[in-house]
Amino acid sequence: MLLLVRKDYLSVFRKNDYRSRISQMRGLGRQLVVVNVPEQVKYVLATRNDNFERKSPAMRRALEYLLGDGLFISDGETWKRRRPLVSDIVHKNRLPDFAHHMEESTLDLVKRWSLLPAGTVIDGLAEMGGLTAEIIARAVFGDKIGPNDAGEIVEGFNSFQGLVDNVNLAYVAGFDNGIPLLKTPRLKRAITRVRTVIDRVASNHLEGKAQDGSMLDLLVRRQQKNPELGLDLRALRNEAATIFMAGQETTAATLTWAWYLLANAPWAEDALHAEIERVCGHTPPTLADVPKLEYCRAVIEETLRLYPPVPLLGRQARDADRIGDIDVIPSALITISPWLLHRNTDIWNKPNHFIPERFLGGFRPVPYSYIPFASGPRICAGLQFGLTESILCLAILAQRFKVRLVPGIAVRPASRLTLRPMGGLPVTIHPR
Ligand code: HEM
Repeated sequence: MLLLVRKDYLSVFRKNDYRSRISQMRGLGRQLVVVNVPEQVKYVLATRNDNFERKSPAMRRALEYLLGDGLFISDGETWKRRRPLVSDIVHKNRLPDFAHHMEESTLDLVKRWSLLPAGTVIDGLAEMGGLTAEIIARAVFGDKIGPNDAGEIVEGFNSFQGLVDNVNLAYVAGFDNGIPLLKTPRLKRAITRVRTVIDRVASNHLEGKAQDGSMLDLLVRRQQKNPELGLDLRALRNEAATIFMAGQETTAATLTWAWYLLANAPWAEDALHAEIERVCGHTPPTLADVPKLEYCRAVIEETLRLYPPVPLLGRQARDADRIGDIDVIPSALITISPWLLHRNTDIWNKPNHFIPERFLGGFRPVPYSYIPFASGPRICAGLQFGLTESILCLAILAQRFKVRLVPGIAVRPASRLTLRPMGGLPVTIHPR
């Protein structure tokens, strides 16, 4: 079981796990609880967040070298102090300041795709990864960050992700907080690639050399106004890396899976094209169009249901507790899996079908049955940013192109830190 989990966590789930149930496994004094009942999901993520706010040791250890005490893996006082700061900076009210990065970067991609010789096979995942990296890099670090620096951070993150494990074996062996990952030369190289770029850009901002309205700039200005925040170079680097990491891969995975699903559902693709034409005509979609692109939003929401970019939310119990009728021991691992919850056969009608229409007409899912952005106090700080970016990028690209899968290639989801198609998504691009 451990070996399977280390390789691909989702492959351990069996038919029964896709029902409304809470299951547990015990071994070596450890308890693993999987919660797949909406009311109990609420209990863990919202009602008793104070007892379950801490991320799993595997997640904390996997990310600490890159994110330090950054919001994603911090808890307690650090999280409480930083959450309002980061939330404010990526808040939906700031979208008008950052949406032009989404529009411009996607239009650059339109130009690039227009020049591709017919039939060229490209990797849809890498294309979407490049696009969302450029958008979030420009938003976080400012316009001056070039494609080389953004690429360097993404490649560093990617190789880092390939080297870390889904499991911290030291936790299984009795160390409640796991132990730090062994810094192999390859891991060190990946860390250095990411840090070198981020440190340089963060130092420029701290020295006042870059007042560009970027997220880093906003963080520095907050610090100057409120020195008690204590945002030194290290803290700035950690929060910048956190926003970059949290916002890049997730959105790239969403767009990649949306192309995959649309390519297999011509009726949905037709409806999407018709809506874009009705709302935008032949003018490229902009932020102002997003509220009118209801079908496009439904496609993204349904994509997030079937392929939630964060398929597992791992938490560690601080004190003994009781979830449903299961007694939880201190330090137990609680897993809530949006993957399981979104395909729960007791909750969803045709759970494995791609039906964007289910999200139209004011549909509201059963509370706590649909949580691609998590829920409760630790809900994704960039929810509106990520949702808007996904809708806008999809609309701009779908107005001009169809994406087709290369025949004969089996697409399988692989769960590392995010859920992506294993080995990428080979596709061809077809002008409309
Ligand atoms: C479709 C895109 C996205 C999805 C599906 C997504 C999903 C999530 C999820 C599930 C979490 C909680 C993880 C957990 O509790 O273990 C999270 C946290 C977070 N996300 Fe997102 N995210 C997306 C885009 C973004 C973007 C664009 C940003 C920033 C611009 C962002 C910033 C954050 C931050 C800062 C956290 C940590 C919040 C905290 O712990 O208080 N995310 N995201």
